[in-house]
Formats: sequence, structure tokens, C-alpha cells
Amino acid sequence: MKRLLILGGTKEASQLAIKAATISNVEVRLSVAGRTTQARYQVGVTRVGGFGGVPGLIKYLQDDAIDILIDATHPFAAKISLHAAVAAKELDLPRLMLIRPEWLLQAGDNWLEVDSIINAAKILEENAKRVFLAVGRQQIIHFAYIDNIWFLMRLIEPPKQDDLIPKGSVILDRGPFKLIKEKELLIEHQIDTIVSKNSGGDATIAKITAARELGIKVVMVNRPQLPLGERVNNVEDALRWLLLLKNALWCSSLFFFSQILLAR
Ligand SMILES: NC(=O)c1ccc[n+]([C@@H]2O[C@H](COP(=O)([O-])OP(=O)(O)OC[C@H]3O[C@@H](n4cnc5c(N)ncnc54)[C@H](OP(=O)(O)O)[C@@H]3O)[C@@H](O)[C@H]2O)c1
Repeated sequence: MKRLLILGGTKEASQLAIKAATISNVEVRLSVAGRTTQARYQVGVTRVGGFGGVPGLIKYLQDDAIDILIDATHPFAAKISLHAAVAAKELDLPRLMLIRPEWLLQAGDNWLEVDSIINAAKILEENAKRVFLAVGRQQIIHFAYIDNIWFLMRLIEPPKQDDLIPKGSVILDRGPFKLIKEKELLIEHQIDTIVSKNSGGDATIAKITAARELGIKVVMVNRPQLPLGERVNNVEDALRWLLLLKNALWCSSLFFFSQILLAR
């Protein structure tokens, strides 16, 4: 039996966990940060919450005898990816990154690309009046000091009592979002600019398409640097990698035991 830890928090991680659990002799564990309380997990063993930095992750990997690590976290969750890379290297564990493709600029798009949320906030001050902020609860504080812009903030869960939030309205919703609804929302609130992370994927792309069709600017936050290492961009390729690896590990275990028997 080989034990696989999937670092999740994405739709792809959950899909991979479900499919990997059907592979013989592979036991799957899925770990999520627990950023939303309403998340639905569909695989057997799931752990929620941080490990306690690299030392905590190393301890978990050792205590739970993990053989294989797949980092299928959100493309903006760069810290946990770095921790995974360091811990896997330390323990000599095979590690794969599953990273969904990013959205690409298309004809008709009006993107202002920035390399951080902080720079997104800076660039807005001169470029926008009514902004649709689709960056997640953790990041809205970066816009809270701006007082000459009205913000429409879409969050999965309501802000916490002591969260600092920008001037404007909060709506609660979670993807996937439909193009027609996104267009209605942008028109209803007279939005002139959207702020989005380049998360990629289908679930939240409708706002980007809507912006293109309505001639609305997008301040697009480019992805952070992720650690080096083997990577795939879809669940099927991650499964293929896993199967190949499992077979290779299986063969080396058989070879190891046959050597012991021969030596007797
Ligand atoms: N994490 C998600 O599920 C998620 C989903 C959607 C979007 N994002 C976006 O990614 C950006 C950074 O988010 P973030 O703070 O969650 O990530 P992060 O900055 O990479 O991670 C911060 C800490 O959260 C814990 N953590 C993250 N992912 C984990 C996992 N799969 N299992 C266990 N612990 C995990 C780790 O704590 P320890 O150091 O204590 O181990 C990690 O050091 C934000 O822009 C956020 O909106 C994240």
C-alpha cells in the first residue's frame, strides 16, 4: 500500500482525490487549509488546517508514513507550495504540482496586469470609480484605505467582525458563475473595472468574458512564483503520473524483497 497526500483547496484536488482513491494499493489523504467553513469534501480521510510550517509538515509526512505528495493547491497559495517542496526534498519524497492553466489575454480584453494585490490597489486609484473586487476575503483589506472608489465585493462567506473592508457592498456567492448573470451584475452596479487574480479554470472565468464583451477594464493580478519541480496542468495527467510512480515504487519494493529472500 502506498499512501498519497494531496494538498488541496481546489476543485482539481478534490477530483484527483476521488479518482486516485479508486487506484488499487493507493490510500489517499486530502489536506485543505480550511479557508471556507461550508466546503464539501467527498473523500474519506481529510484533514483541515495548517501543519505548522515546514517542520509541522515534515512531522505529519513522517508520522503518517506518506509515500507520495501531490500539491494541487490554488495557484496563489504559494507558501504551502514552497513548504511542500522543501519538506518533500528533505524526506526524499516524490512530489508533483498540479496547476491549472492561467487565463490568457484575448482580442478585445483590456487588462492592466500587475504582479501583486498591493499593486492592484495602487493602480486602481487613478483608473477606476466603481470596482468589482473578486479577490477573496483575505485580500480585501488591501483596498480598505481607498476612499474615492466604490467597491462591489463578492465573497463566499461574510467578512468577519474585525475584518477591515473597503467602502461599498458585499454580496455572498460562490462559483461556478454564468456569463449572463455576470453581465447583469456588472451593468446593474455600473462597474468600470474588475480586480481579479489570474486563477484560471472555468468556474470563475465568466466575469473575464463579461468584461471583454462589455468593454470593462480588468486589473489582472499575475500569479506568484511557484517552486521548481515536476508539474502537470490537469487531473488526468496527474493520475497518469501517479500510476507510473506507483508501478515503479511497487517494482522497486518487489526487487528489494526478492533481494532479501535471495540473501537468506
Ligand atoms: N488555500 C486555499 O484553499 C485557497 C483556495 C482558493 C484561493 N486561495 C488563494 O491563495 C492565496 C493564499 O492563500 P492561503 O493563505 O490559503 O495559502 P498560502 O499562503 O500558500 O498558505 C498559508 C498557510 O495556510 C496553510 N495551508 C495552505 N494550504 C494548505 C493545505 N492545502 N493544507 C494544509 N494547510 C494549508 C499552511 O499553514 P502552515 O504553515 O501552518 O502549514 C500555509 O503556510 C489567497 O490569494 C487565496 O485567496 C487559496
